[in-house]
Amino acid sequence: MTRTRSSLAHQITYALKHPARIAPHLRRLARDTWLRLRTDDHVSYYRAVMRHDTARDPGGAVGSHNQRRWLAMGRMQFDYLVEHGLKPECRMLEIGCGNLRAGHLFIGYLHTGNYYGVDISPDILLAAQDTLAEHGLQDRLPHLTPVRDLKFAFLPDEHFDVVHAHSVFSHSPLEVIEECFAHVGRVMKPSGWFDFTFDRTEGKEHHVLREDFYYRTETLVALAARYGLKATFMEDWERSPHKQSKIRVTR
Ligand SMILES: C[S@@+](CC[C@H](N)C(=O)[O-])C[C@H]1O[C@@H](n2cnc3c(N)ncnc32)[C@H](O)[C@@H]1O
Repeated sequence: MTRTRSSLAHQITYALKHPARIAPHLRRLARDTWLRLRTDDHVSYYRAVMRHDTARDPGGAVGSHNQRRWLAMGRMQFDYLVEHGLKPECRMLEIGCGNLRAGHLFIGYLHTGNYYGVDISPDILLAAQDTLAEHGLQDRLPHLTPVRDLKFAFLPDEHFDVVHAHSVFSHSPLEVIEECFAHVGRVMKPSGWFDFTFDRTEGKEHHVLREDFYYRTETLVALAARYGLKATFMEDWERSPHKQSKIRVTR
């Protein structure tokens, strides 16, 4: 993966190969420019993106444009964590839980009250409530909480066995990821682990429209180390059909 999607050469080649995608891309460019001008920081900007996308289609807002894909993407995340030792008695924090694409499976599997989902978007959390009702999960009493940062100041020390962030850092500038690394260790049990996915590049790090961010593995590993966290690239995840890569962080 050495392409730099923000380069003009890449964009021209891509447009020639996919002419039907030019108009939607231009619409997204106009929308994102408008939202960026009206917001002060990345989180406010991305919250506005989510508001707009969720109003059109909550599944599309988390990246799945039909129900079959939504279910399959959730199942893939769930199966991976269960294969890696997620147990019903674990306490789980899901960062950027969206409308519970994977969350509905975690909530059904974990003991009542052991799932904690946080998201910067109140709109997608309302859609998450719809998912709970549609899947008959009301009695599992999951926590669903809006956040304005990733400091976790309202959560207790050493509480979570598993922290999970799927397709969240792919939409985050480095300072947001750094804030998470600076604070996540405190809320993890000493034996806990934190899995996150990211859009990997082996070339120059870049972003597209400040919506999609591409990082080198070594950047994220070194950033985690700065906060006393050990980061491991998950080779077995590369076999999954998902385009992003995965890193596991431990204390
Ligand atoms: C592509 S969706 C993925 C949702 C969910 N993880 C899944 O796989 O279905 C990304 C989610 O992360 C949320 N998000 C983005 N940046 C965030 C941040 N800094 N803190 C918390 N949530 C964030 C978005 O609002 C959105 O719900």
